[in-house]
Amino acid sequence: MNPLLQKLQPYPFEKLRALFQGIEPRAGLKPISFGIGEPKHPTPPLVRDAVVNALGGLSSYPATIGSEPLRQAIATWVKTRYHLPAVDAATEVLPVSGSREALFALAQTVIDSRSTDPAEPPIVLCPNPFYQIYEGAALLAGAEPYFVNSDPARNFACDYSAVPDAIWARTQLLYVCSPGNPTGAVLTLDDWRELFALSDKHGFVIASDECYSEIYFDEASPPLGGLEAAHTLGRGFERLVMLSSLSKRSNVPGMRSGFVAGDASILKKFLLYRTYHGAALSTVFQTASIAAWQDETHVRDNRAKYLQKFTTVTPMLAEVLDVRLPDAAFYLWANVGRTGLTDTAFAARLYADYNVTVLPGSFLARTAHGTNPGEGFVRIALVADVDECVEGARRIVEFCRQLAQP
Ligand SMILES: Cc1ncc(COP(=O)(O)O)c(C=O)c1O
Repeated sequence: MNPLLQKLQPYPFEKLRALFQGIEPRAGLKPISFGIGEPKHPTPPLVRDAVVNALGGLSSYPATIGSEPLRQAIATWVKTRYHLPAVDAATEVLPVSGSREALFALAQTVIDSRSTDPAEPPIVLCPNPFYQIYEGAALLAGAEPYFVNSDPARNFACDYSAVPDAIWARTQLLYVCSPGNPTGAVLTLDDWRELFALSDKHGFVIASDECYSEIYFDEASPPLGGLEAAHTLGRGFERLVMLSSLSKRSNVPGMRSGFVAGDASILKKFLLYRTYHGAALSTVFQTASIAAWQDETHVRDNRAKYLQKFTTVTPMLAEVLDVRLPDAAFYLWANVGRTGLTDTAFAARLYADYNVTVLPGSFLARTAHGTNPGEGFVRIALVADVDECVEGARRIVEFCRQLAQP
């Protein structure tokens, strides 16, 4: 067996199952889950109908490169959304079967694990806390993840200036997540300027995970994207790719449809890798994806639902926890320090007493540089409908008030 598999950690939800094992939630309360970050709004009829109308596509193998109309639809979306002068549908975009597998596959394409010194394998830089795929992708590509902690005092930005030169010298790939899971933080133009300068100096590839880019709260200011930042700073897309997805934008996590866009020379090699990898997006879903990328009405409706939930629930929870509206995405990243409980004790007792599930922040981060930056936080995914979110928030408030009683 591949010995690298032994380096993989259990997924956060497995850790949660282990934490809750043997706990019997109080009877009579309907379970409410803020634990799993899976979109729950209904799939828009526009996409469902497009899937049904495209079923004829089942009779053919899909091309890995994707259909020309889909690549064109994606290129047009990227160009419009990020105010770019041009995006080449033939060389600068590639449809993928959801951004998760592409985040993983990208490391297999980019990393050169032939090291002159086996004690010093290549490095993949990851934010901390982070989406666990980055770590597994790094390890299975023969690289070593290096975690850069996010700083709550600076809107959860990572302090890249603290990374030693010896680490940069070995870095081949850097993942960023903007809007971030779990913090919702969006990288600023200054953040991007710093990252581009570091990439120019040390030669690593930047993979920008932007799958939450369409869930935001102010219609007038959508989150800045990596390609947009590059263009604004007068650059091309060299050593930069972004990944996006319909899962959250269009409530189709089951369709597994996303794309990678950016540096044509990376995408050329990525396509070669994928031809063998065999993860082409089904022709049926390629056709339905065109309909989804070409429509913004359902995306605005989706945002309005999240806005209603966030503006109702955030002030309720802010009474008892340190929490505020994030820049974007569908999570509240709440500091539970005020309650005197650790994040795991908070989650376990809330589940036992109120049948509400939240995810302990320490499960989403690693101990690095002497601390686990997820500790003391819980991730609250506001994915259920508004009534359920409000009821869950009401129970959390009651739970915290009870804890505060002498
Ligand atoms: C940060 C982040 N990136 C990527 C993904 C993968 O999304 P998908 O594969 O559905 O595009 C997720 C899913 O939850 C995520 O949270």
